[in-house]
Amino acid sequence: VTLNVVITDYPAPPADVEAQVFAESGLDIHLSWCDGTREDLGRQLGSADAAMVGYATIDRSLIETMNQCRIISRFGVGTDMVDLQAAGDHGIPVTNVPDYCIDEVSTHTIGLIIALSRHIVELNAYAHAGGWGRDPLPAPMPFRTEGQILGIIGLGRIGRAVAAKGLGLALRVVSFDPYARDETFAECGIGRMGLTELLKSADYVSLHCPLTAETRGLIGSEELRLMKPTAYLINMARGPVVVQEALREALQERRIAGAALDVLDVEPPPADEPMLQLDNVILTPHTAATSVEAILQLRRQAAVNVVLALKGQPLTSVVNRDLL
Ligand SMILES: NC(=O)c1ccc[n+]([C@@H]2O[C@H](COP(=O)([O-])OP(=O)(O)OC[C@H]3O[C@@H](n4cnc5c(N)ncnc54)[C@H](O)[C@@H]3O)[C@@H](O)[C@H]2O)c1
Repeated sequence: VTLNVVITDYPAPPADVEAQVFAESGLDIHLSWCDGTREDLGRQLGSADAAMVGYATIDRSLIETMNQCRIISRFGVGTDMVDLQAAGDHGIPVTNVPDYCIDEVSTHTIGLIIALSRHIVELNAYAHAGGWGRDPLPAPMPFRTEGQILGIIGLGRIGRAVAAKGLGLALRVVSFDPYARDETFAECGIGRMGLTELLKSADYVSLHCPLTAETRGLIGSEELRLMKPTAYLINMARGPVVVQEALREALQERRIAGAALDVLDVEPPPADEPMLQLDNVILTPHTAATSVEAILQLRRQAAVNVVLALKGQPLTSVVNRDLL
């Protein structure tokens, strides 16, 4: 019997990595792609035995048509684009790949902290344009990073890696995570803080929590007002964890020194997105997780998860286990 595996969007055909995993599995798998429209998602997912999801929104109304689907396999860590409750109600496990990009995202975060602090982007542009020397310095005078405070919101896999790398830079590291155990903070060698205290004291506030009903809008105008005018916000998690409008205002009014963002509310951002015009924001286009090794690991594991589900074997990274 031929099994239908539908890739909702990412990665584009031919999906050679996934196809190889499927070939090795001994299963007879037919792989197809949606064309990016919701109508096509609705058409194809109804007859899918497995769905593989990049960035497409998989809401309850789609899930209710997925009557023969045995797994929703996400290409990534975050599963906020999938209605986990609806999938659970339908008995469909949702898997992620929790560990493929810990090194990449944590290094990207530290790279951006250094870029913000040392004004690398502005100084690079100045030097390329023929400018030279530090009198006058064509960017704000940096502060010494040694001893500055890195505040990590969300002390999970990535947050802990950022903590270790931050300590390596001689930053003082603290974290807010209501769900992490005291032992985790002790093992990391960092202090536990409440959100308000962290926002008031950190020189760098770095977001590493998932997007959930609780973290949506976690950093709004009130929270931004607690931050020091010399502080920076780094968001490698998900755009809606921050109220983007409030962040834009804080940046325009220089109530905080700057921000580095790998994620935005709407991706890709519309051409008139004001954030694109601000000179105190460094943007990367949702690429923090990328490396040769990470992408290979991600795609192989997402396909392995599909094979395990189709064979009825135990899955290792089910994110909606409690809801099934
Ligand atoms: N930019 C990218 O390309 C990229 C890549 C990977 C992951 N991410 C995002 O980063 C997030 C974190 O990844 P991870 O691998 O560290 O996940 P993880 O599940 O290992 O850790 C998440 C941590 O956040 C904590 N948390 C949950 N709710 C919180 C709250 N209200 N306040 C503070 N902390 C809270 C959890 O307790 C946990 O310790 C992912 O959910 C994903 O959205 C982005």
